[in-house]
Amino acid sequence: MPIIAPSMLSADFLNLGRDIEMVNNSEADWFHLDVMDGRFVPNISYGMPIIAQMKKLAKKTMDVHLMVVEPEKYFEDFKKAGADILTVHYEASTHLHRSMQAIKALGMKAGVSLNPHTPVSVLEDIITEIDLVLIMSVNPGFGGQKFIQQAVNKISKLKAMINEAGCNTLIEVDGGVTLDNAGTLVAAGADALVAGNTVFSSPDPVDTIKKLKQAGK
Ligand code: DX5
Ligand code: ZN
Repeated sequence: MPIIAPSMLSADFLNLGRDIEMVNNSEADWFHLDVMDGRFVPNISYGMPIIAQMKKLAKKTMDVHLMVVEPEKYFEDFKKAGADILTVHYEASTHLHRSMQAIKALGMKAGVSLNPHTPVSVLEDIITEIDLVLIMSVNPGFGGQKFIQQAVNKISKLKAMINEAGCNTLIEVDGGVTLDNAGTLVAAGADALVAGNTVFSSPDPVDTIKKLKQAGK
């Protein structure tokens, strides 16, 4: 069964505690937390203080997705805020290998995210150092966008690369994940599904999470 990571970007921020409890009481596995700086992506979301508050209530893994330039400046801050998984963008990292080592040295799992235009082949020489690859299936910056179909091929290629390398890097998919495409993504090799709009715009988010959890069965 896939790991389900509701994206809190789509939560109701006036009722954030309620939405965190909903995820706590659902079959979801992780909290997906999108940090945007208005430079790497054309939007600004939330940062360490909000995540530190959420951590007080959240009972599941904190999966932090950094959509920021110079992410390495903030690794320690996000560790202190409560991140369990810290993912940086390939496109924002000049020294990706060093970043993976630094994140892991702080006791977090280290992830790399790829924008839709970035081929998975760029990770060939570093895949064994990465705990998680986050395949963007929309252009990062906003929730509720349409799924980019090419992401399915990227998942298959990445899965083959991981198998060949003999490592256990997880594949996570982010953007436009729905109850309709979740099964295809799991079949292609996705281990974790991020879902914002699909979960939080549904009339029964707990039931939607339960259905996502059944994807690929
Ligand atoms: C987009 C974010 C996503 C977003 C997903 O930049 O990385 O995590 O919240 O939202 P949906 O599932 O609505 O596409
Ligand atoms: Zn994300």
